[in-house]
Amino acid sequence: MTFSHFPKKLLHWYPQNKRDLPWRNTQNPYIIWLSEIILQQTRVAQGLPYFEEFVKHYPTVHDLANAPVEDVLRRWQGLGYYSRARNLHHCAQQVVEEFGGNFPDNYRSLLKLKGVGQYTAAAIASFAFKEKVAVLDGNVFRVLSRYFGLDTDISSPKGKRQFQELADELIPAQQPDEYNQAIMEFGALQCTPKKANCDQCPLQDSCYAYAHGQVEALPVKIKK
Ligand code: ADE
Repeated sequence: MTFSHFPKKLLHWYPQNKRDLPWRNTQNPYIIWLSEIILQQTRVAQGLPYFEEFVKHYPTVHDLANAPVEDVLRRWQGLGYYSRARNLHHCAQQVVEEFGGNFPDNYRSLLKLKGVGQYTAAAIASFAFKEKVAVLDGNVFRVLSRYFGLDTDISSPKGKRQFQELADELIPAQQPDEYNQAIMEFGALQCTPKKANCDQCPLQDSCYAYAHGQVEALPVKIKK
């Protein structure tokens, strides 16, 4: 088994199993950013109608930046975490004022935007600009920890560093966007937190957790 076995299998699995989600059919960084902010701490089924509504009413970053913040907060109602909506509006104005209406086109610069952390910057940089930067979210932690048997606490700085190093080694130069979507979708649909579908898993034969009866035990997260 070689290291490239893992991305290869995921890239094969993804087109056959992925959900058809609207933000996957675009390379527009504004639309991708909007979807990622809405989906933070929100399930896809809940976020989807909000996403459609925002795209309809604010088709460009200028439309969102020019809208009164009260309108944005009203449309956000039901999603919770209202700081996200305030940051969303603030970020749109920042893109217009500081970047001439164009989203920064690389990971480093994207981090300067209000409300955009490492995960969101990596998602936009890879999906919109094909930058080879690995996303790390709950799905990715779970898939990597199980497959590679990495049992460092994912809530510790050391754990985050180790997972990031592993993720950065695995991401292929050819399709970093497709690979990032694939590993997150694999975690969401196949390698799930409970009742993972190991019986029909394309990675079963080389998965550390499956071989060692550790699927339910990984990832390790020491709650505070
Ligand atoms: N949750 C957060 N980002 C997502 C994405 N790009 N696709 C599906 N679910 C997500």
